[in-house]
Amino acid sequence: MSQRKPVMAGNWKMHKTQIEAQAFVEALPKAALNEDAVEAVICAPFTSLSTLQNLLKDSQVSLGAQNVYHEPQGAYTGEISAGMLTALGVSYVLIGHSERREYFQENDVLLNLKLKAALEAGLNPILCCGESLAEREAGGFEAKILRQIELGLSGVQMSPSYQQRILIAYEPIWAIGTGKTCDDTEANRILGLIRQQIARMYGEDTAKAMRLLYGGSVKPSTVASQMAQPHIDGGLVGGASLEPASFAELIRLCAEHGR
Ligand code: PGA
Repeated sequence: MSQRKPVMAGNWKMHKTQIEAQAFVEALPKAALNEDAVEAVICAPFTSLSTLQNLLKDSQVSLGAQNVYHEPQGAYTGEISAGMLTALGVSYVLIGHSERREYFQENDVLLNLKLKAALEAGLNPILCCGESLAEREAGGFEAKILRQIELGLSGVQMSPSYQQRILIAYEPIWAIGTGKTCDDTEANRILGLIRQQIARMYGEDTAKAMRLLYGGSVKPSTVASQMAQPHIDGGLVGGASLEPASFAELIRLCAEHGR
């Protein structure tokens, strides 16, 4: 139905040393490394990026970071700029993962600066959004999610290239790391609302072109039915991306959908 190329992005969070990252890639089956029917991404800790750049350079798997600072350089102790990431061969970056929002107080205004800095430097941002359990139970949480998208993309002049490069991941916080996936049709409903929001901001063509991901306890056993939903174009996966066999299976199942 759509021409949108599926995306399978692993989010390693604060897992794996350089040695462990190397062991992971060495154990990844060739088919996963060479699969070109899906955009496969590993969002690794900063400390493993250089190792992964070397190990993945002849593969189809792209490198992602989990955070970025919006200033290009300067007295910002502990931060990493978008240019530093592209210099390492990084092509994707997570923006506003719920753990960044919750534990590091990253707000929509800051995340908008980060997203724009990422785009300008040539990185593909993965803008994350989603509600907590309390917000879901209180009702009206959809408005919060749409506001995260509106503020996250504020001031972004959309272009055919940006339509391809900007990814949005809906990750209900209550489904992250809990083993409780969001019901497929419900995840599809929320992503449909996000697509409508994009259409309001940038028009129908952009809304049809952009890739929207679901995240929250995605596993090889859940991904096929998730990918079968019309608005789900890929996954953002934490726990199940940490094992080579499981990540390879996620890539394979996602690619099947892309053929
Ligand atoms: P999970 O994490 O797959 O372990 O639920 C998803 C995420 O936080 O991106």
